[in-house]
Amino acid sequence: MKLAISGKGGVGKTTLTSLLAYTFVDQGYNVLAIDADPSPCLGDALGFPRELLQGLTPIAEMGDLIEERTGAKPGTYGGVFKMNPRVDDIPDKFSATYRGIKLLELGAVKMGGSGCICAESVLLKQLVSIILLQRNEVVLMDMYAGVEHLGRATSDMVDALLIVAEPTARSLGTAAQIKQLATDIKIPRLYLVGSKVASQADREFITTNSPGLPVIGFLSADPAVLNADRERKPVYDLSPTLAQQAREIVAALQTIQ
Ligand SMILES: Nc1ncnc2c1ncn2[C@@H]1O[C@H](COP(=O)(O)OP(=O)(O)O)[C@@H](O)[C@H]1O
Ligand SMILES: [Mg+2]
Repeated sequence: MKLAISGKGGVGKTTLTSLLAYTFVDQGYNVLAIDADPSPCLGDALGFPRELLQGLTPIAEMGDLIEERTGAKPGTYGGVFKMNPRVDDIPDKFSATYRGIKLLELGAVKMGGSGCICAESVLLKQLVSIILLQRNEVVLMDMYAGVEHLGRATSDMVDALLIVAEPTARSLGTAAQIKQLATDIKIPRLYLVGSKVASQADREFITTNSPGLPVIGFLSADPAVLNADRERKPVYDLSPTLAQQAREIVAALQTIQ
């Protein structure tokens, strides 16, 4: 299964991604977790040891690799470079693995205006395409408040896009914008995940104000998320409630497939 996770900043995308990752690991799958946030923190949420994370460089910051593969220096525009750089070896070579989860950090592409084509973005787009087309493990993409790494060509390789929203009008407004972007590139299945819900009223607020997206599950507001952060442990290990809710979301997704 290949899932992308999007939503407004701070709603709980990384928390959800980490919970889903360990749910799939418990089911016996290998997981490739992609941190597409420009300031990566999925590794921490997954409880990766510091030494492993220190050895990890976001792909967008690997200047020599980008130049070797695309034929152009990162950050340069208008030059001639390969539009189909070799990337198939990158997930295994430049990732860190812990408890059955392979973590790849994409890093930030410094965009020089809309529609810019620079070496880093060509390499990352190709990388995401190849991951969606060729990898046979579960793929989870923790994205930013958008779907920028997904292109029309590979959008149908994503089994579902999970849009995370809190019980707030703003995060549901962002969910509506993401829905529009995702619909434009024809991602086939879009679902809303309600995050940080503390009451039945919260659940109802999300369901009632969903921008026409079916709600596939809820994650409770749980102080264990804060404790997990402080103790550098995966929240999956600390919160039976959230782990159970993640299993329910995975079960619902597996029914739909
Ligand atoms: N279910 C939850 N219960 C309580 N706090 C949460 C929950 N999910 C996320 N948080 C808190 O919200 C903040 C943002 O969470 P995070 O998963 O990093 O969001 P995002 O990846 O969308 O920016 C963090 O401080 C986290 O501790
Ligand atoms: Mg995040």
